[in-house]
Amino acid sequence: MNGLQAGDKLAILTSGGDAPGMNAAVRDAVAVALPLGLQVLGVRNGYQGLLDDKIEPLGRRDVEGWIRRGGSVLGTARCLRFHEAEIRAQAAAHLRARGVTGLVVIGGNGSLAGAHAMASELGADGEPLRVIGVPASIDNDIACTSLSIGVDTALNTIVEACDRILDTASAHSRTFIVEVMGRACGYLGMTAAVAAGADGVLFPEAKLDEAALVERVAAIIDHAYAPEVGRRRVLIVKSEGVAMASGELKAAVDVRLAEMGIPVETRVTVLGHVVRGGSPSATDRLIAGRLAHAAVRGLTLGLSDVMVGWHVLRMPGLPEGRLFDTDPYVSFWPLDDVLRETARIADGTSPLTQWRVRLLREAAPYLSC
Ligand code: F6P
Repeated sequence: MNGLQAGDKLAILTSGGDAPGMNAAVRDAVAVALPLGLQVLGVRNGYQGLLDDKIEPLGRRDVEGWIRRGGSVLGTARCLRFHEAEIRAQAAAHLRARGVTGLVVIGGNGSLAGAHAMASELGADGEPLRVIGVPASIDNDIACTSLSIGVDTALNTIVEACDRILDTASAHSRTFIVEVMGRACGYLGMTAAVAAGADGVLFPEAKLDEAALVERVAAIIDHAYAPEVGRRRVLIVKSEGVAMASGELKAAVDVRLAEMGIPVETRVTVLGHVVRGGSPSATDRLIAGRLAHAAVRGLTLGLSDVMVGWHVLRMPGLPEGRLFDTDPYVSFWPLDDVLRETARIADGTSPLTQWRVRLLREAAPYLSC
């Protein structure tokens, strides 16, 4: 497939849940594309904007200051209608009418599925549209990238929140269950628990049923306040994908503690969307820039239907990618493979998920999980 050349047009969109660093990626894609003679069009509100034909030129000045902005300045959306072939054909027609031959999609699992589907549509030159995905989601549930854009910022936000909660928890000798986002993936919960110095972590990959969850939390509390351990507070990080609502877990744990004769006050804090907002960390800005650079360069190399991945771990049973010559931290991965492996991360059968859990148990033996 021919790569994009000077004079060609690429469109860029952010889609799905916003992630800190998405704006930095758009800004850097513009910064890389313009000196190559490419024209850049920004799409408002993700795939929905393609349907509504909300597509406008993006210049260097338009993206001024975007490197430090959270959320998505272009706007983002979860567009369920994009699963329908006729709807996608309409979107592709809007791109062709604007003379677009390349598309960069910045987003998570659903967004990358949309990118894969768009790679079968035709661009303005009558050739298949060249489409490159850039992984962005705080959940770190996308395969073929060791980090997605937004993960580092979200993790830092959670750890800061836990540090604050621990101050008040210690003052009152309380136990806090802190729920963090992450959908079906426990990555944010696990890594935040380690970095925050938590006593325990609950994540979906452990597949504990309700009774086991209650026993686990009660045991963590019992152990921590025992005289020989002497904790003044207990912190348990709980991933949102765990199969029991945090309020119900607290209520059941309170009953169990009363049965055990442990007079401890428990509280629940659900961090929710607080974790998704905010200015991106330096690491997220740098990763966003490097992935955006590779995405634009990938289009000029004639690549399509691929995702750019950051510093990918190689392990048996995982797909193979193609290294980006200019930046050995970045590689290109067929979207087909990315989507298949991402589904295995969601259901816990991916070797990557299993390794994460093994590593946590071995390297953080002080953390009950
Ligand atoms: O995928 C990012 C994420 O923040 C998940 O962690 C969470 O489950 C979901 O999006 C929340 O989505 P919404 O903002 O649509 O409620």
